[in-house]
This record gives sequence, C-alpha cells and structure tokens, in this order.
Amino acid sequence: MKRLYSAATGIFGLIGLSLWAVCSIHATASAAEGLLLVQEVSGRLHTPPASQASPSPQVLNAAPSYEQVNSILQQRCIMCHTGPQAVGNLRLDSYAGLMAGGSKGPAVVPRSPEKSELLRRIRGDSQPRMPMNGPPWLTEEETSIIEQWIATGAIDAPIGENQSARPQEEARKEGTSPSGETSASAPLRYTDVAPIFQKRCVRCHMAQGSLGTPPEGIRLDNYTAILAAWERPIVIPGYPEISLLFRTIKGVSLPRMPMDGPPYLNDQDTERISRWIAQGARSADGKAAAVPAGANIRLKGTLTGRWALDGVALAVDSGTRMDKNPAPGNSVEVRAVVQADGSLRAVRIKRL
Ligand code: HEC
Ligand code: HEC
Repeated sequence: MKRLYSAATGIFGLIGLSLWAVCSIHATASAAEGLLLVQEVSGRLHTPPASQASPSPQVLNAAPSYEQVNSILQQRCIMCHTGPQAVGNLRLDSYAGLMAGGSKGPAVVPRSPEKSELLRRIRGDSQPRMPMNGPPWLTEEETSIIEQWIATGAIDAPIGENQSARPQEEARKEGTSPSGETSASAPLRYTDVAPIFQKRCVRCHMAQGSLGTPPEGIRLDNYTAILAAWERPIVIPGYPEISLLFRTIKGVSLPRMPMDGPPYLNDQDTERISRWIAQGARSADGKAAAVPAGANIRLKGTLTGRWALDGVALAVDSGTRMDKNPAPGNSVEVRAVVQADGSLRAVRIKRL
C-alpha cells in the first residue's frame, strides 16, 4: 500500500485516482448514486485513506469494482489465462477462476495486495513478470486499480449495484428503448465485444503477437487501434456489411478470420460484433463513432448485380475503373470511397 500511495502522489496518480472515481460513478445510474456508493464502500470497508495528495477524500476511498479489474485482465491477460489450457493452471476469465488461483496457489489474497501473486507478477516482484508478452507492462493506473480492488476485499459485484437493472437504465438514458423492453436492446459498447477479440484475434493482431508484427498492420487489442483511421478502415460505424472486420469473420471476404479457424466465431459472437458495429461501434463509455467519410476501403466478395457487392449497392460513374470485365456472379475486389451516409462510390471493380 505504502508504495502505491507514494507513487500516486504525482499528478499522474491523481489522474488515475480520479479515473476510478469517474468509473465508479459511471457504473451506477447517476453521479448522486455514485457518491452514495463511494460513501457506503468507505463506511463498510475501512479503507485506509490515501489522503496525502487528496483534493476530494470521498473519491479517493472509492473501491474499484471487479468489472474494472476484469476489463484489464480481459485486455492483457486472458489470451493466455483462459479455458482448460490456461497457463499456470490460472484462469483469469471469471471471478471464480481468479479466486481459485493457479498451480502455485492463490493468486489473490483479499485485503493483502502484498501477498497476492497476481499483483506481485504484475509489478515484477515475482518472476516471470506478467503479462508474459510484456513490455508494455500494466500502467500505473491499471496496477493501482488492481491493488485497490484487492485491498478493499476483492469483492465480486460492486456494493449496492443491481446488475440486472443496469442495461435497462442505460437503454433509457440512450433513449433507444421504451422502459418495458428487454435489456437486449441496450446499445453494445466496446467492452461487450472486446473479450471476443481478446480470445480469438489478439494473439496475432497485436504489437508483439505470435506472428511478430500484426498482419496487415491491423491491431485488434484496443478500441483506438480497431477504430483508427487506417489507410483503409476496417470498421465503418453503423455499417457492418461494408466493414472488413465483420466481412472476414462472416467469411464473405476471404481469408476468413480467425486465420487459425475453424472453429470460426459462433453465431452469437458474430451477431454481437455485427450489432456493435451497426449501433455505432461505441467506445467503452458508450460514445458512438463517426463514419470515416472520404476513406478508401477495399472489399472482396461476390458481384451480385450491376452494381452491387454481396447485395450492397455500389455507385458507379464514368470515373469507375472496370478491370477484366467484371460481371454479376464473379468474385471481385472493389475499391471504394465511403460516403457520409455509409454508401459506397466505387473507384475500381476488378474480377479476381
Ligand atoms: C503471453 C502469455 C501470458 C500472458 C499475456 C499473461 N501470462 Fe501470466 N503466465 C504465463 C505463463 C507461461 C505462466 C507460467 C510461468 C511461470 O509461472 O513459470 C504464467 C503464470 C502466471 C501466474 C502464476 C500462476 C501460478 O499459480 O503458477 C500469475 C499470477 C499470472 N501469470 C498472472 C498474469 C496476469 C495478471 C496477466 C495479465 C496482466 C498475465 N499473467 C498475462 C503466460 C502469460
Ligand atoms: C493465427 C493468426 C490470426 C488470428 C488468430 C486472426 N488473424 Fe486476422 N489475419 C491474420 C493474417 C496472417 C492476415 C493476413 C491474411 C492475408 O491477407 O492473406 C490477417 C488479416 C486480417 C484482416 C484483413 C483481411 C484482408 O482481406 O485484408 C482482418 C480484417 C482480420 N485479419 C481480422 C481478424 C479478426 C477479426 C480476427 C479474430 C476473429 C482475426 N483476424 C484473427 C492472422 C490472424
């Protein structure tokens, strides 16, 4: 604990700490409830106050939730620590797995961060340091979240939070769902699809993945990278049918992904990614991303009309280059410019 608080006295630490506060508040329906939660937590758990550099003591006492810890583990650990083959016999893909520990014993000792192998590995106090494929190691903020979560008891659900009521509340806030509707209609966020990428794609599509450099320069290990304005974007928010990422998992565009399949993604995961893109490829905070109007994309598929690619209309004009007389039924590669309304202006249609 000492170590964290001294490390956290700089501005950097303050940003990290306010980040927890924002996250805990965000996790509940309103800021008022967020403060209530904070007070409840500090009242119940007697967290030692980290007060040296504190502009706002209640906020510093906020206990990070398992959800916050889990999202870090999902991003950085589960590609190796998942399923029956989990390395070190340690599964970090569920609360139960995390608390069950690995072949060398418990990974988490609630209220004793110093004795928790999980944190020791993250800091490099125990070797080999984790994540095994680092650096980069976890950031100070991420490390602090995990340390604080353990220090405050390593509890599962945040106190006072009604998990099942949340999606509906979010849907109401978004204004997309009348109050009676099921939670399934809440718009998906990055956090709803990130575990799929982590499990099935990141192994190759990361900076130092199993193929060395990420194939085609495509990294799928964080939101910014997935949405980055590539030379050719692979996600067109709002339009899965023209998003290369979706087309490759669906197998409409070859080679189908994941490259090491089958198995490919199951219907449920495929549908989830489609819906995430259709609903605006939202960030973890639920902010929809903009259509990259003017971006060039390149899609492979079947010409299904004059002119359509797998049913998606292509605007063709005298400037469109036709290569090798493409005709309906042909396998083609289309180069196109994305318009603000998600339609495509074809630059070149080439029979493959
Ligand atoms: C690239 C694969 C990989 C990643 C990513 C990875 N680990 Fe590991 N982890 C391993 C391997 C391999 C071992 C077994 C090595 C050993 O302990 O000798 C291990 C062992 C461990 C152990 C000891 C388990 C035991 O009881 O033996 C802990 C704790 C651990 N990892 C935590 C983490 C955490 C936390 C992260 C994410 C921050 C992480 N690991 C990410 C490969 C990985
Ligand atoms: C085993 C390694 C591996 C895994 C796992 C993997 N990929 Fe790939 N990916 C590749 C390789 C290699 C290429 C380049 C293939 C080519 O163009 O011949 C590629 C290319 C791509 C492309 C560009 C395709 C194109 O036509 O230019 C996309 C998009 C993509 N992958 C998405 C994914 C997604 C999404 C997942 C997870 C569902 C995934 N990949 C899993 C290795 C992998």
